[in-house]
Amino acid sequence: MDKVKIAFIGCGGIAGWHLSHLLEQDDVEYVGFCDIIPERAESFVQRTGGTAKAYTDFRVMLEEITPDAVYICVPPHVHGEIEFALIDRNIPFLVEKPMALDYELAEKICNAAEEKGIITAVGFQDRYLGIIEKAKEYIKDKQIGLVTGSWVGGIPGVWWWRKMETSGGQIVEQNIHLFDMARYLFGEPARIYASAGKGIVDPEAAGVPGYDVDDYSSAVITFKNGVIVTLLTGCYIVEGGGMHNGLNIYCPDATIEYGLRSFVRIRDKNGEQFYKNEFDSGITEDKVFINAIKTGDPSAIRSPYRDALKTLRLVLAANESIATGKPVDL
Ligand SMILES: NC(=O)c1ccc[n+]([C@@H]2O[C@H](COP(=O)([O-])OP(=O)(O)OC[C@H]3O[C@@H](n4cnc5c(N)ncnc54)[C@H](O)[C@@H]3O)[C@@H](O)[C@H]2O)c1
Repeated sequence: MDKVKIAFIGCGGIAGWHLSHLLEQDDVEYVGFCDIIPERAESFVQRTGGTAKAYTDFRVMLEEITPDAVYICVPPHVHGEIEFALIDRNIPFLVEKPMALDYELAEKICNAAEEKGIITAVGFQDRYLGIIEKAKEYIKDKQIGLVTGSWVGGIPGVWWWRKMETSGGQIVEQNIHLFDMARYLFGEPARIYASAGKGIVDPEAAGVPGYDVDDYSSAVITFKNGVIVTLLTGCYIVEGGGMHNGLNIYCPDATIEYGLRSFVRIRDKNGEQFYKNEFDSGITEDKVFINAIKTGDPSAIRSPYRDALKTLRLVLAANESIATGKPVDL
């Protein structure tokens, strides 16, 4: 296969980001773009030279065209039917996180894709960061006790974000990236306890009518190897922001700071090593996915669906713990 025929379902913000990477590659051609908002699909057709076709219904699109792979970039509550339609047709896909808001649905999708041997990838692009490779390599033989981390900021603009039933809340929709990074760096979690609060965000004053997600939360995750990770999540900062989000890793003989998508700083007896992120990790994420489709070899994909399912389980367990007030064993 010289060129991989690509289609998109969902042509909003993150889809545009993936498309900007694919447009830098000469081994991709575009066959279809689908969005329930027709102008969005049409604008992607125009961006890619006008030969692909725009659709408002993915079922109609999949009757008319046969892509080699599909990017699924719809809001979190829209998953299920789309994936099963692709699996029925043996079409590989890259799906954005969170892959669903219901664990059982995601598990069914995962099993069905695996039964058919379909290549899958999930949009945890931070796993492809060069600075994360440095940190992962550095800590591989280190003893780690505590890790703290945060993703605290404001409320994203998309309409579906502010409601639990359409986004799953900030841990599930956004901080899932750091929960996934914790798994990528420290292994599998054994138990999680989380607590959340509301009352800072005034939905009317903040211009987010219908807002019902938590304003802030703190989750304590005990990993099987004994590492304890505490992750803060918040969306109520309106002024005075700018503190680093990311992770702080505490070893007896070193500390490692991961500034979210921007740097890794290691301090130990040799002084300080500082690595600045110069690259958009999504470029690598998309190259790896397209290459997997071309070669049929998915081994370079750092977040296949089966692995991402464990992260989804973890963030949904955080929500469960918040709701019940009890720790959840994983
Ligand atoms: N990996 C990342 O860093 C990252 C960043 C942002 C968003 N995301 C994820 O990507 C997903 C989409 O987020 P976004 O910011 O692009 O949202 P968005 O609202 O900008 O785009 C989603 C698009 O999907 C379309 N859509 C909805 N239902 C559809 C359907 N049935 N068929 C076809 N199109 C449909 C909408 O009209 C919209 O244009 C979310 O799951 C989000 O969590 C990931």
